Amino acid sequence: MLQISPSLLSADFANLAAACAAVAPVADWLHVDVMDNHFVPNITIGLPVVEALKAAAALPLDCHLMIENPDRWAPAYAEAGAGSVTFHVEAAAAPVRLARNLRALGARAGMALRPATPVEPYEELLPELDMLLIMTVEPGFGGQAFLDIMLPKIRRARALIAKSGGEVWLQVDGGVSASTIERCAEAGADVFVAGNAVFATADPAAAVTALRAMAQGAAAPTQA
Ligand code: DX5
Ligand code: ZN
Repeated sequence: MLQISPSLLSADFANLAAACAAVAPVADWLHVDVMDNHFVPNITIGLPVVEALKAAAALPLDCHLMIENPDRWAPAYAEAGAGSVTFHVEAAAAPVRLARNLRALGARAGMALRPATPVEPYEELLPELDMLLIMTVEPGFGGQAFLDIMLPKIRRARALIAKSGGEVWLQVDGGVSASTIERCAEAGADVFVAGNAVFATADPAAAVTALRAMAQGAAAPTQA
């Protein structure tokens, strides 16, 4: 089943609860971008805000950790009640151990790949994961242009997931919009993060609904 995860990075940081409420009836997750100014050249929010969102939001939290040393810091997001915790493989010292820790704490374990990180070396890790995130921009900022060159990687990731049993969700994040979501769905993505395409519009809920319809129209029948 296709899922939409609106990114709060594009919402009004002074009104996060209102942003959550706006999309809660129509979205599947709330995507929360945690940046530490080391793994990426930007800083956003951390654990205290995630804890506050957990208490305030009606949707499960999809935490995307763009941080150094996720081995040390990611489990606390699972402990805080995030439904899904995604770390970057480029930053993880022991991704298998970390994924197992996250699952043991009750969260879904996600692993993200920057645009220049190939998926093939991680085929054997797929059974340890609940979600694979293919970044379709360089992580760090919302509102960037979608990288079309990532489409073949999405296709290859979908094929590897199918080969491994097909249980792993395939998320795309960065520049996902009405102009690009169909290509992502056609390539095999099934969880779509969208920041500007949702929260930089006058009606975020309507944007989520429209994006979902476009993705469903483009996905293979088994995906939709
Ligand atoms: C970027 C973040 C994204 C960002 C996407 O590093 O991981 O989640 O919010 O924003 P858009 O959809 O505007 O590209
Ligand atoms: Zn993100």
